[in-house]
Amino acid sequence: MDLRTTYMGIELKNPIIIGASNLVLDLEMAKKLEAAGAAAIVYKSLFEEQLHLEAAELEDELHEYDNLHAEMTSLFPNIEHSGPKAHLLALKKLKETVSIPVFASLNCTYDVSWIEYAKYLEETGVDGLELNFYSTISDVEKTPAEVEDSRIDILKKVKDAVSIPVSVKLSPFYTNLMNVVYRMDKVGADAFVLFNRLFQPDIDIKEEKLRVPYNLSHKGDNRLALRFAGLLSCNLKGSICSNTGIHDGEDVITMLLAGANTVQVVSTVYKNGVIQITRILEELSAWMKEKGYEKIDDFKGKLCKKNVEDPHAYRRGQYVDYLMKAKEYLKKYPVN
Ligand SMILES: Cc1cc2nc3c(=O)[nH]c(=O)nc-3n(C[C@H](O)[C@H](O)[C@H](O)COP(=O)(O)O)c2cc1C
Repeated sequence: MDLRTTYMGIELKNPIIIGASNLVLDLEMAKKLEAAGAAAIVYKSLFEEQLHLEAAELEDELHEYDNLHAEMTSLFPNIEHSGPKAHLLALKKLKETVSIPVFASLNCTYDVSWIEYAKYLEETGVDGLELNFYSTISDVEKTPAEVEDSRIDILKKVKDAVSIPVSVKLSPFYTNLMNVVYRMDKVGADAFVLFNRLFQPDIDIKEEKLRVPYNLSHKGDNRLALRFAGLLSCNLKGSICSNTGIHDGEDVITMLLAGANTVQVVSTVYKNGVIQITRILEELSAWMKEKGYEKIDDFKGKLCKKNVEDPHAYRRGQYVDYLMKAKEYLKKYPVN
């Protein structure tokens, strides 16, 4: 079975990409993922915020004993935080270790850093760059237009600064996501990763404290990504990579039918092990064989918005259908 697909201008041997996570910090694990059939890897994001925090911690540690001697300005006068160097080195190592494409991922705090770090990441030899536009905006004065304009401006500047393909990984929480995507498509985003799964804090009611749960997705969490793959895929220049809640072969097939070029998986590997990649590829091949498809393009986008009978299907909230056929649904799903 021919599982090849094209993602932001790069041919991949199949649509399964390992999403950014801690999974590939270990090179042995990266090799295993490649052997299991993964077509590409996104390396963990370079988070500018983390670098600043580490640098501040180091500064504190270096000055911890300063008051031991009145004339001593510092015990370690010449030590500085190495900035992104360790990350860049690890990324370079990963690129040398596997033969599948490797993508870097970037999340910055300051506009100017996006461009500077994007260039550093490109120098490691990676095949593409994912801009992880993850942030929880907590500034009440900021308008949606300001947030969106600044993202689009960053994308434009990064595109001008590097020559590798650039994708954007978005959250679904924009006022008008379709508009944001279309504007980014116009300024040349090579792909859209839909969607990032934002960190959600929880509260421990026994201890009455905030806690940090391990944020893995579950099967069924893919519906939002599916809707937007269906809505957007037939109308964009950039590729679509569906993400969040893709756990098995069935989930991958649904995304391809909706028009995605690729998918990214993380949680399913944490939950089911590396072997899950092989299983997904087997399930995809078996389904294609059963349906008589020889290659991905034979069915990719078959159910995108412009190809389905009911063009409103992706737009209309399911509840409208419930309202129209209330009695039918009550019979089907009786309430005790
Ligand atoms: C442990 C862990 C680390 C992650 N690190 C990153 C990261 O560095 N950058 C990023 O863009 N997403 C990161 N993610 C989010 C994943 O790439 C992915 O978008 C999310 O888990 C949804 O996909 P899934 O349902 O297959 O897990 C991380 C997720 C997990 C569980």
